[in-house]
This record gives sequence, C-alpha cells and structure tokens, in this order.
Amino acid sequence: LFDDHLPSDLPEATLSDNARIVLAKRYLKKDEDGQPIEEPETMFWRVARTIAGADARYGASEAAVDELARQFYALMTTGVFEPNSPTLMNAGRPLGQLSACFVLPVDDALSNGRSGIYDTLKAMALVHQSGGGTGFSFSRLRPEGDNVRSTMGVASGPVSFMKLYDASTEVVKQGGTRRGANMGILRVDHPDIRNFIACKNDTSQVTNFNISVALTDEFMKAVKAGGSYDLLSPRNGSVVGQEDARQIFDLIVHGAWKTGEPGTFFIDRANEYNPVPSLGSYEATNPCGEQPLLAYDVCNLGSVNVGRFVKLDAPSDLPPEDRIDWDELRRVVHLATHFLDNVIDANRYPLAEIHNLAHTIRRIGLGIMGWADLLVRLGIPYSSHEGVEMGRRVMRFINEESRNASERLAETRGVFPAWGPSIWGPDATCARRADGSRVRPMRALRNCNLTTVAPTGTISIFAGCSGGIEPLFAVAFMRNQAGSLMPDVNPDFVRIAQEQGWYSEELMERIATEGHIHFDEVPEDIQRVFVTAHDIAPEWHVRMQAAFQEHVDSAISKTTNFPNEATEDDVRAIYELAFDLDCKGVTVYRDGSRPMQVLSTGKTS
Ligand code: GDP
Ligand code: 5AD
Repeated sequence: LFDDHLPSDLPEATLSDNARIVLAKRYLKKDEDGQPIEEPETMFWRVARTIAGADARYGASEAAVDELARQFYALMTTGVFEPNSPTLMNAGRPLGQLSACFVLPVDDALSNGRSGIYDTLKAMALVHQSGGGTGFSFSRLRPEGDNVRSTMGVASGPVSFMKLYDASTEVVKQGGTRRGANMGILRVDHPDIRNFIACKNDTSQVTNFNISVALTDEFMKAVKAGGSYDLLSPRNGSVVGQEDARQIFDLIVHGAWKTGEPGTFFIDRANEYNPVPSLGSYEATNPCGEQPLLAYDVCNLGSVNVGRFVKLDAPSDLPPEDRIDWDELRRVVHLATHFLDNVIDANRYPLAEIHNLAHTIRRIGLGIMGWADLLVRLGIPYSSHEGVEMGRRVMRFINEESRNASERLAETRGVFPAWGPSIWGPDATCARRADGSRVRPMRALRNCNLTTVAPTGTISIFAGCSGGIEPLFAVAFMRNQAGSLMPDVNPDFVRIAQEQGWYSEELMERIATEGHIHFDEVPEDIQRVFVTAHDIAPEWHVRMQAAFQEHVDSAISKTTNFPNEATEDDVRAIYELAFDLDCKGVTVYRDGSRPMQVLSTGKTS
C-alpha cells in the first residue's frame, strides 16, 4: 500500500462546504472513533498516486508515475473529472475495490458451489461491503408453483428470491462503506412476469432494488401489432403459455405511472452492441441502468465535467461550438481514459471470476456530468433541437477521443485479450449482426467498452456541477444552513443576473421559495435557458437521451420527469418513443408519485 504523504507543493482542492461535509462523512479515512484522519487533498492524492502507480507495470519510471499522479490530482481537485465513489473511497486502502457496477448470475439451484441462489447471495454481500452496486437477472429461476424434484416441493419463484436478496441487502448495509443497491431484472417472457411487474406497487416493498422488465424486440413488435406472445419455460425454453402483449405493456406502464417502477431494459438493443458476444450475452444491468453487463462483469466509471469546457470570456456572438475548448476537452478525455484503464490493474476484485473477466475485456465507463451547466453557459435551452444536436456533437467527440486514447494505450500495452472475436476485431472472426454487417469498424482498442453516462449522484457534488445529462433540478432552493434557511441559487444564474443588472437578494429569495423563475424581472430568454427537469416536456428528456445514446458504447442513466397530472397514455407514449429512438432502456418519474421524494423544489424542500 502506498504511503500517503502529501507533497507540500500541491494546491488545495476547490470544494464547496457541502462537498467537504459529504467527503468527511463517508469518503475520508477514519480512526477507531470515527474521526477523519485524512483531508480531501490527502484522499485525492492517495487516489491519484495509486492509480498512476499502475503505469509502473508497463515500464514507467518513478518520475513519470509522479508526473502522471500530479495530472490526475489536478483533474480531481479542480472538479474537471472524478472517478466513481468506490475508487475515491478505496484506492490505496486495504479493501482496494474500485468499481461501482457488477452483474452476478443467478442459477436455478439453491447452491451449485458457484452461481446458485445462495452462492450469489454471498457474492452480493461481498460486493456491497466494498461499495459496489449489483444487478441480477432472475429470469433463469423456475416460476412460482413449478415442481422441485429433489424435495417433491414447489418452487417459490423469482420474486420471492429477489425479496430474499433485498432482505440480505438491508442487513449488510449497516456494515459497508455505503449501503447496498441492486437492479432486479426479469424477461417479459418469464411466466411470473405479472407478479414481477406488480412487486413494487407497494412502495414499502423491495426498497433496495430498482426493477426493470427486459423487453425483447419480438414483444415490442407484438405491442405495436396487437396480439399475443409466448411465455417460455426457463428450464428448457419450451412454450408454456401466452400473454396479450398490450395487456402486459399496460401493466408495466401503469406501474411506472403509479410509482416510477418497473423501468424497461431493451435487452435486444443492448445485446446488439455487446462488444464480446463470444463470452456471453447481456441479461441485466447495474442498479442505475447505465451498464448492461455479462455475468461476473464489472465496470469502473469516471465522469468528465463538460460544463468546465465553455470559454466564459469568449464573445457571446461566437457560434456555441466555437465557445467550447475542444483541445482541452480532448486532453482531459485522453487522461481520463488512461486513468480508468489503470483502475482495472489497481483494482482488487471480490471474486476470481470477476478479476478474470475484467482483465480479459478491460471494460471502462467514461461518462459526463455538468451537461445542463454547459447548455446554460452557451445559452441553449435543454428542450430544443439545438440542445439535442449539441448533445450529439459533444458526445460524439468524447466517444471518438476516448477510442483514440484507448488505441494509443493498446500500442504499448496491447489490445484487450478477447479483442479478436470482439465487435472491434479483425474481419474474419469478429462478431457481426445477424445480416453479416459489422457492428463497429475494426479498431485495435485496449478496452472493449469505453463510454457511458452515469447518474453521478455524489461525484457531481464534489465537482460542483449538474448531474450526468440531467437538466437542472432547480434554479434555486432554500437550504437549511446551520439552523437557518438560506437561498441556494445556481451560480450561473447569479452571474448572469449580476452581469445583466437585474440581480437582487429579494428576487433570489422569491425564486428559491416559490420554486420557479417565471417573474417579470427575469428576461424571457433567460427563463427559456434555465429550464428545470419539471418544466421540460418528457419528449425532450427522451430525445436528449437518444442523442447521447448514439455515441455511447454502453447505456445511459436518465430519468424522464412527468408532472403529477400526466396520464398513463403519456407514459406509454414515452416508453414507445424511447424504443423507437433506439434507447437501451427508459425510466420515468411522475412528480409526487412516491411518498418519500428525496429531492423536491419550492416550498416543500
Ligand atoms: P457516484 O460515483 O457515487 O456519484 O455514483 P453514481 O450516482 O454515478 O452511480 C453510479 C453507479 O454506482 C450506480 O449505477 C450503481 O451501480 C452504483 N451506486 C450508486 N449509488 C450507490 C449506493 O448507494 N450503493 C451502492 N452499493 N452502489 C451505488
Ligand atoms: N432502470 C434503470 N435505471 C433506473 N433508475 C432507477 N430505477 C431504474 C430502473 N428500473 C435510475 C434513475 C436515475 C438513477 C438514480 O437510477 O433513472 O438515473
């Protein structure tokens, strides 16, 4: 383990008070009494030094490792790039588990010594203890009421075992670095699908799981055409029943309208882009949906804060794309890709299977955050064709540069071991679409998968930016600060108000308490640019997600917000639109549809 002495010439981190509080609570090293024994700066140096240290195994000198560590330190302490939480918590420490996302297989046996229900339950506990989130497909479990030959009993079905995993998560969550989080998936052609769709209608149930239904293309076709589809036995794939596709789709839509769950996972779309189909197919995703993964697959994430690449001092009559510092963005994307590739080598994986697959395919998840900030700084409304087009443009650039960086790494470190038959591999052997065409052009990459968009729930607080590609949640809200309520206003909004001469403390307080900016003092174009999640028509949420998906290797974590009065038809239209636009999944949230809403605007916050 690395001796975490902080070089005296390193600058302090730029962090808000809120960020320092979150770090002290959960991220910094603590003594036996729970008192932090490192500063945020020591934490970032511990991470930077540990991850840069992986270069030594490729022959880098000590001086080169030190120089790289300083570059990583600068990225993280200035909020330009942050790795996912487990890397911040565990790098350079005994646990050493650095990844946020795992998928574990669940076989139809109580125990087979490897991936039976209780074997995987134990693996889940180990992953949670280390700060990772887990996803499972329960589709291979025989349905409720099916027979159990060895005992002459009857099976209790996938939902009952998901509840077992949920209860175990609840128990383990006290002891880990952070509480467990899960994704539960069932294929729409599983005989227990009705029971699964309804299992979270009571929002006090299965609270440690997000759930999604894996929808096949065949099912979506049946929904469009009207008619039935087959239910299949998980034991042998034989047809054991039929359901009316629209009826099942309506149940999914109803649940989503009522509680936000289930979400949907368009499993065939995800598998079309599986980079290594010779090693298995995708059955499930991580808890927030941005990573479809194979069995025993893992992904370490990191996100670039794109809002930081707007040149604020550029003349505002320049076209928006000329106000983005593309050269600096390229430099950061290359460094971030290098960082995430190193994480694979620095990582201590909780299971041998996971270690082996990670080193065979070298999957990484480079994402972005601060998207809403970037749009605001360029004066582009989120809900506009210009906004969506800019999303496509920025993500295409990041995706391409991340691939360039991965190619450069491969020149010295080699391509990932499973490259040959992968979708990136040489002509003769590479994986192809059913019609024989290549899924991706041949490229000699170090990593089978490069890009994603994570929610960045905590790391966006450290970077001081908006989360993932979500719109602003609020322009201002009242924050409880040491016992008194203070308005917390978006800094770009304050800056513009001051520049344009309509700033007043009274206005800021009114905006924070009322929860909107539709006041006469606020110019109309500013009202259009500072749109928040709830002002944006659901269709724009999905159009933005789809634009990013075009240039993202894995998937995107995104919530499409609906007003409270939205109907089930509104939700159905969005689920269909997301499928038609080639999204890999969709999640919705209707305002007020869950009893405990973590974030809310206006007077209730
Ligand atoms: P951040 O790095 O903490 O900001 O995490 P994100 O909000 O970007 O989430 C990324 C991934 O981390 C999710 O998809 C999950 O796989 C995992 N994750 C997020 N929050 C939790 C949590 O509270 N507990 C656990 N165990 N995993 C989480
Ligand atoms: N499928 C995919 N993502 C989900 N999330 C919640 N439930 C699901 C689901 N069933 C995501 C939200 C948000 C993040 C915190 O978790 O969309 O992006």
